[in-house]
Amino acid sequence: MNIQRGAFIVFEGGEGAGKSTQVARLAASLRASGYEVVVTREPGGTAGAEAIRELVLDPEYSGLNPRAEALLFAAARAEHVSALIEPALASGKIVICDRFVDSSVAYQGLGRDLGAERIRELSHWATGGLLPDLTLILDIDPTVGLARAGQVNAAPDRMESENLGFHEMVRSAFLMAANEHPRRYLVIEADQSPDVIANSIATATTSLLG
Ligand SMILES: Nc1ncnc2c1ncn2[C@@H]1O[C@H](COP(=O)(O)OP(=O)(O)O)[C@@H](O)[C@H]1O
Ligand SMILES: [Mg+2]
Repeated sequence: MNIQRGAFIVFEGGEGAGKSTQVARLAASLRASGYEVVVTREPGGTAGAEAIRELVLDPEYSGLNPRAEALLFAAARAEHVSALIEPALASGKIVICDRFVDSSVAYQGLGRDLGAERIRELSHWATGGLLPDLTLILDIDPTVGLARAGQVNAAPDRMESENLGFHEMVRSAFLMAANEHPRRYLVIEADQSPDVIANSIATATTSLLG
């Protein structure tokens, strides 16, 4: 029997942009429409990758070597794609992932200055070339996003603790990725209300899923 491959939808954006909020809303709305949905996140998604997440976001390791950091994200991603994302897509499910390759390109490639191309290549190796069918970029002024995130997490993680210039670089990296592949990306102004944002996302995913 031939099962139709599922769809891979990724949310990207800075801290406090509203990714987790919209991931949950989209999952609920797709499930209500009868789709089988897997919700996951990066770094993480499997036991091994969640252990790497703990390590890589822990402020205890504030001075972690940037290359080590990039490799840890890639290691978590390799595990996540092979053990969870690919099997779910192969069985026809919709996978919604909170962050993916573009976050590595933004944070490690540009934020840590390791080079966007190098990080994209490393990620490509880790994923076996898997790309999202649709990436939703929630675009927010980092000052606003960090303030929102601060109301949720009392203790900022290792990425949230970076300076404003770092977060502005990350923001521009997401916009650059969207600019290069407008057909696979939707940029949404994330300072709108959650309802307005959810509506834009619903329109884009309906058109993707047909
Ligand atoms: N569109 C929005 N407008 C105002 N506040 C929002 C919006 N979306 C989410 N929030 C709030 O901002 C905070 C961060 O949202 P969250 O979804 O956790 O962001 P992220 O996962 O991108 O870091 C939460 O308190 C959330 O309720
Ligand atoms: Mg979140």
